[in-house]
Amino acid sequence: MRVDLFIRHAAQVVTPLGHRPVRGMAMGNLELIPDGAVAIRDGRIVAVGPTSTVEAQITEAAEILEARDQVVVPGFVDPHTHLVWAGDRAAEFELRLKGATYLEILRAGGGILFTVRATRAASSDQLIAETRSRMDRMLLHGTTTAEAKTGYGLEWETERRLLDVLHHLNGAHPLDLVPTFLGAHAVPEEHRENPEAYVGQLIEEMLPRIAAQRYPVEGPWSPPWADGRAAWFCDVFCERGAFNLDQTRRILEAAKALGFGLKVHADEFEPALGATPLAVQLRAISVDHLVSTPPEHLELLARSETIGVTLPGTPFGLATGHYAPGRQLIDAGGALAIATDLNPGTSWCESMPMMMALATRYMKLTPAEALTAATLNAACAIGLGREIGSLEPGKQADLVLLDARDYRHLAYRYGVNLVHTVVKRGKIVVREGRIAQDEELHR
Ligand code: NIG
Ligand code: FE
Repeated sequence: MRVDLFIRHAAQVVTPLGHRPVRGMAMGNLELIPDGAVAIRDGRIVAVGPTSTVEAQITEAAEILEARDQVVVPGFVDPHTHLVWAGDRAAEFELRLKGATYLEILRAGGGILFTVRATRAASSDQLIAETRSRMDRMLLHGTTTAEAKTGYGLEWETERRLLDVLHHLNGAHPLDLVPTFLGAHAVPEEHRENPEAYVGQLIEEMLPRIAAQRYPVEGPWSPPWADGRAAWFCDVFCERGAFNLDQTRRILEAAKALGFGLKVHADEFEPALGATPLAVQLRAISVDHLVSTPPEHLELLARSETIGVTLPGTPFGLATGHYAPGRQLIDAGGALAIATDLNPGTSWCESMPMMMALATRYMKLTPAEALTAATLNAACAIGLGREIGSLEPGKQADLVLLDARDYRHLAYRYGVNLVHTVVKRGKIVVREGRIAQDEELHR
């Protein structure tokens, strides 16, 4: 067999297996191959196994990577980000350190609404430049696919511009993006006195227009599965001060009828508004945050097909000390994924390994469970379990080489970047911890 890229003699090749979300205790079952190898052809994995076994099948390799003293894992999948915005909220961070709460700041017209003002005022070029720098940082930390939400426009023109930016970057950057429409992120200032008018606009105007919108699939990096839909998913921030349960239901039902997959920001702050049972009832692909979810709702979730996406960067970023009961969800037989929640307010962090470090300590996941949560289960939480999330023949060749001899170092060490090499669809896009030269030329 002739291959394009042959990675051999890795200290370990480590991966979950399959195309479906891994549930309960099985999340800890990884395939671990000492002295492992991966062979890649036409952007797909063609063989994984012990170096001697894979090598015996190969007649010619265009490029060989010696991965001695390194661990090979699937590229990380970040299934919940608010990737595209302008500016920052460093001043608000400092206010919170002095005691102001996140929801108080939002009620006073700051928080998300502060970023909405900055984003509406930014040019598309500025948004592209700011977003691209975050995508570079994600790639450098081993993320090869990410979900990306709108939600800092909150009116048609800007929300559409955010989708334009996401589609442009999807073709122009090696990191693959899956767009989600989050027009229901907050009630915009101009509708403060009458939130129902905005809910009506979302349901009657914005959702149908987005459902009908198509983008040409173009650019050197357009993912094969980017079918041009403007957004794959619709998400709602169900929270006191954002959207109530009844509004959340109406928006999600309308989105479902238009063919969107569903996601919900549920139980981030206020306990048990009921968004988790609603997500389960509407067969949402994921329900996200789950910090204040009561045990009976967690049980319901664990028995459903909906994936729990937990975001440990958020309680860390806000220093609340309250983390999602990730261990309990796994013990109840649920499928759990982790994500960064990358956003300027609660969690400006591009690193999935940092989320693994937090998930093991504060949600009591084992390092193996955290890896499954950051790869295969994360892929399933954005509908891509068939394409990515594990190292198996047939899957897209997205993988990471770490400067460590044991995969547990991913969660064990933190605050430094162990990513040495990133392979995206069979191409080396990060070499020795830097964006590869030929990738720089695409800019
Ligand atoms: O998931 N909760 C709503 N959205 C984000 C925060 C966005 C922001 O503060 O800008 C979250 O935490
Ligand atoms: Fe979020």
